[in-house]
Amino acid sequence: MSLSEKDLRYIWHPLTQHQTAKAAIPIVKAKGAVLTDENGKEYIDAISSWYTAVYGHCNPVVIEAVTRQMQQLDHVVFSGFTHEPAIQLSERLLQILPENQKKIFFNDNGSTAVEAAIKMALQYHSNRGMKRDTIIALENGFHGDTFGAMSVSGLSVYNGPFEEHFLKVVRLTPPQDDSSELVLDQLKKFIASNDCAAFIYEPVLQGAAGMKLYSATALDELLQFCKARDVLCIADEVMTGFGKTGKNFASEFVKTLPDIICLSKALTAGMLPMGITSCTEEVFGAFLDEHPSKGFFHAHTYSANPPACAAAIAGLDLLASEEIQQNIRRISQSHREFAGTLSDNEHIMEIRTLGVVLAIDLKAETERYGALRDKLFEHCMNKGVYLRPLGNTIYIVPPYIISEKQLEKVYETLSSVFELL
Ligand SMILES: Cc1ncc(COP(=O)(O)O)c(C=O)c1O
Repeated sequence: MSLSEKDLRYIWHPLTQHQTAKAAIPIVKAKGAVLTDENGKEYIDAISSWYTAVYGHCNPVVIEAVTRQMQQLDHVVFSGFTHEPAIQLSERLLQILPENQKKIFFNDNGSTAVEAAIKMALQYHSNRGMKRDTIIALENGFHGDTFGAMSVSGLSVYNGPFEEHFLKVVRLTPPQDDSSELVLDQLKKFIASNDCAAFIYEPVLQGAAGMKLYSATALDELLQFCKARDVLCIADEVMTGFGKTGKNFASEFVKTLPDIICLSKALTAGMLPMGITSCTEEVFGAFLDEHPSKGFFHAHTYSANPPACAAAIAGLDLLASEEIQQNIRRISQSHREFAGTLSDNEHIMEIRTLGVVLAIDLKAETERYGALRDKLFEHCMNKGVYLRPLGNTIYIVPPYIISEKQLEKVYETLSSVFELL
């Protein structure tokens, strides 16, 4: 039996309607920016495998660090024990996170990083004797697939059957410069008529919404307003973190610092799963008490897994290197130039770039998982470029180590999709 046949027999894939989906493509190798399938066909990974492998697949620096760690300490319970990789990673992260971040809480993926953030925010208020039960979120945001994370996500395509079980959430329109006053008014009304505990947002760039950008200045005003009313600001940097927007963290685009930050994906350089929820001293302080029940009784078995910590430390070394920083600048510049060449293309509704992210909204009607989306996907795969269109939005987030030639091929492939419309 082939791998595909065995896969069909045994496996239930994520985000897949198995009745209509084509068989999954067996990938046997990944190196740098390239994925290789079982027939030896190569694909440039133009989305860094969901924005994880930003320093390239099977990066030798990461492999070396993880291998060394695996031989020293594989895993140990992180409640009551600690270890150097976790301590070192925390120290290193706190050096580059916004300066008010003081504590690192470990989880094991992006959704659980968000889940912990929401629980922290709710308990922060409850520990201080306040009943605050409402979370403010942005329309079309995406924060993950666990219940808390789903509740705050605004993409109904994923949420439908579960909505009646959700947390109490009110939703703001992501503000643009010309709608900032309107959205601020919306926020004021929400805060006046609900007991708002927190505001969760993907700073500046909404990834799963289709790499949509919104105004940093307007976001700043919303954050300031929240802060003044003790509504905790939770920056979900699971997608935006670690250089993708051209800055280490997208929170650097705004002046007001978040109280809580969620990290995952590129955190571990695409090698191992891990999530992190960082917070301020003030948030942490609200959990200190003689009584155990005021502590944060939330844990994941693989919290602070040492090899994952080692991968993350290696990732931070790579991120800080001049080579990677230069690559990020090179890709950003190259994206801007490519976008410029398409500025009056008749098939494009909008083209936008931020850091290594480039997104094109096509003038075409299609559902998020509609037929045109599948056609675009297959067309690019046939040309040896892996990307995942979201409805009529086609976007790339290439690994920082992508070569100029590979990037050129990705652009050529993007330019060729217009013939399908
Ligand atoms: C902004 C954001 N938050 C959270 C998540 C959930 O992360 P995970 O898939 O690791 O649970 C994602 C995943 O795409 C994301 O983009």
